[in-house]
Amino acid sequence: MTQNIKLQNWVKEWAEICQPEKVYWCDGSEEENQRLLDEMVASGAAVKLNDEKRPGSYAFNSDPSDVARVENRTFICSAKKEDAGPTNNWKAPADMKVEMLEKYKGCMKGRTMYVIPFSMGPLGSNIAKIGVEITDSAYVVVNMRIMTRMGQAVLDVLGNDEFIPCIHSVGSPLAPGQEDVRWPCASNIDDKYISHFPETNEIWSFGSGYGGNALLGKKCLALRIASNMAKREGWLAEHMLIMGITNPKGEKKYIAAAFPSACGKTNLAMLIPTIPGYTVETVGDDIAWMKFDANGVLRAINPEAGFFGVAPFTSAETNPNAMHSADKNTIFTNVGVTPDNDIWWEGIGWDCPAGTIDWKNKLHEASSTEAVAHPNARFTAPANQCPCVDAAWEDPAGVPISAILFGGRRPSTVPLVYQAFDWNHGVFMGSIVGSEVTAAAIGLKAGVRRDPFAMLPFCGYNMGDYFGHWVTVGENAPDKSKLPMIFNVNWFRKSPEGKWLWPGYGDNIRVLGWILDRVMGNVDAVETPIGFVPNKEDINIDGLKGQAELMDALLEVDKNLWLDECELIAEHQAQFGDSLPKELKEQYENLKARLA
Ligand code: GTP
Ligand code: SPV
Ligand code: MN
Repeated sequence: MTQNIKLQNWVKEWAEICQPEKVYWCDGSEEENQRLLDEMVASGAAVKLNDEKRPGSYAFNSDPSDVARVENRTFICSAKKEDAGPTNNWKAPADMKVEMLEKYKGCMKGRTMYVIPFSMGPLGSNIAKIGVEITDSAYVVVNMRIMTRMGQAVLDVLGNDEFIPCIHSVGSPLAPGQEDVRWPCASNIDDKYISHFPETNEIWSFGSGYGGNALLGKKCLALRIASNMAKREGWLAEHMLIMGITNPKGEKKYIAAAFPSACGKTNLAMLIPTIPGYTVETVGDDIAWMKFDANGVLRAINPEAGFFGVAPFTSAETNPNAMHSADKNTIFTNVGVTPDNDIWWEGIGWDCPAGTIDWKNKLHEASSTEAVAHPNARFTAPANQCPCVDAAWEDPAGVPISAILFGGRRPSTVPLVYQAFDWNHGVFMGSIVGSEVTAAAIGLKAGVRRDPFAMLPFCGYNMGDYFGHWVTVGENAPDKSKLPMIFNVNWFRKSPEGKWLWPGYGDNIRVLGWILDRVMGNVDAVETPIGFVPNKEDINIDGLKGQAELMDALLEVDKNLWLDECELIAEHQAQFGDSLPKELKEQYENLKARLA
């Protein structure tokens, strides 16, 4: 129930366009959630999992064509093309609206239109943004209930204020009497659209029901639209985890880290330290909104309320905290379902039980080489179920950030960790993040691609201007001595034989320990052309068999490889033309000079 006339009219207008069978306003209650889940089990869209092993949990399998974000169908529809920049797909707002309205006409026939009021950020806090998503997918409703604060309470807080309107349809109307499929979506990739109108704060999504394509609070609002707001208002909306680390002396620092999709944010945010005395606590695993407080300290909040985590290779060994977060009240998408209605995926830590049904709804034969879970299979779990969730994770004031990390999957060239000389060097570091591509998006060519700040798919405006915004944030910092220090990490360096040089996961605390020591001024480092690298004896490798022999290779800064890297950086920078800040051009020249 709302008295918000603008909202009422907006819903009415879209109901006329989409022509659903009925319109339903979500209240966010337990009862509503259970009813929707029961309906989806009855229709065959969902499987209720074993109540003893996985209480309150459900498994869904998507259409095989609808398994991840669709970057080539994601659009930034700014009035001017140059404001979308060279790394985004662009179409003029009016043209996009004409084209998409054709698609939306009658697209919800035979379906329910759900109205989902949601808050990104703690409900009622002045940093939170309220959106309303219209969708014809009950799967989206139950996921949004985990990932955001959702329902009537949001309408109560909204009152007559402005909201961010988000339209979503799976684009699969039902004719009278037509039977539904398990996962409706547009069957043709060209019928999918994830469109953003940054000047008017609107999101229009059509044709996909999966993840960031459909749960519009996440990448669409909290990153693409919010990055525009952040630019206008002088703050940062980033693809970053937020975590607290306490060292053996009991000193606690918070850090934020940007790694590209499926490159280890969830895992780092919840890691269980393998060296004694350290504690890690999780504030967020995917998105950070950061602003300076009155004392000039950069503080971060997690705008989300849940985790939409990569399932494959998550196990009691690699990430027990993620496994426990997903113990109950969790939605699994594109995993295997065992005969006793438990879940299974590659790397879960036990053998696949006979009779398991794979993500394509087919019986998995023991002899089969086909994956049981899709590589981008995900769990949707409430953040408050995470055993190591930080006490301040919902604090509207956010947590103070002492260090910012960048990273990606780099089999060569990039050392385990190195530190930027200063803020602008750190911005340069973020701007050249690269990674081997992963399964988190559809249709990308294999190999290393640049993913600046891990924001390539999520920056809602010209990436060159975004770099400039980061430079400006440093320049305008109320107290430059309080700016976070900036680091780059790489858990994924390999030997020439293709073996990981670093164990990763819980052992990453050994690197975080060094970073904390740098932040607190406790340890010296080696100055190299690319930045400060640890003295190898300062990375604690106690108890890691065979690691000592690998440390030189892991920390090596090979000048020739970096000169090759410079060629790639030059190419990368060139695409931004005049929008590349002169400070980053300078950083590049300085790097080359240091390597010479
Ligand atoms: P998004 O949710 O897509 O933004 O991804 P994310 O950055 O949160 O990635 P996540 O933590 O889910 O990790 C993705 C994959 O990387 C998983 O299959 C992990 O097993 C693997 N991974 C994570 N951390 C490490 C690590 O330290 N070393 C190695 N070798 N693999 C890792
Ligand atoms: C990512 O791809 O970075 C994700 C998953 O976090 S999705 O929400 O689908 O974008
Ligand atoms: Mn992500």
